[in-house]
Amino acid sequence: MDNKPPSNPPSNGADERTIVLVGLMGAGKSSIGRRLAKHLGIRFIDADDEIEKAAGLSIDDIFEIYGEDEFRSGERRVILRILDEGPCVLATGGGAFMDTNVRDIIKKNAVSVWLKVDLDTLLERTSRRGGRPLLKTGDPAKVLGKLMDERYPVYATADITIESGNDTLDKMVSKIANALEGQKN
Ligand code: S3P
Repeated sequence: MDNKPPSNPPSNGADERTIVLVGLMGAGKSSIGRRLAKHLGIRFIDADDEIEKAAGLSIDDIFEIYGEDEFRSGERRVILRILDEGPCVLATGGGAFMDTNVRDIIKKNAVSVWLKVDLDTLLERTSRRGGRPLLKTGDPAKVLGKLMDERYPVYATADITIESGNDTLDKMVSKIANALEGQKN
């Protein structure tokens, strides 16, 4: 992960705002975020990676050893710290935006972008990578479906919603960049 400030000044109208990507597991927040940051010439930060670094443990192990509540406190601390550190593209874990504190700070200090994805796509993508404690037990379709019911109304309060079906990464980046431009006016 590259946390260094960009060595070249942004060439495309520099975005001074932190852009926070929200959405369910498998929405593509990290891969799209990394590419978007490059496009905007700002740093990319993955909140889950930062939580793992701060704890010296994997997300799986944090859940296993300390439980979800402890994970959520760590997640909150890490995100508040990142939001205080200057512009970046921040990919958040799927549960982060559900926390009222986190959501309020994001509202005040950043632009939030919800990557809205249908269930089949989420299922297909999450089946390719493990390390997601919430999907370890039960039927992933049911778990994700329930999370969609609970979370989509909250994600819908993000500043920008981007439908993220099977578009290429470049297409997604240009959709988000256009929406961000529109949002400035
Ligand atoms: C979670 C999503 C995960 C990770 C943790 C909990 C959630 O991140 O933060 O497993 O509550 O949806 P991704 O959305 O990046 O997979």
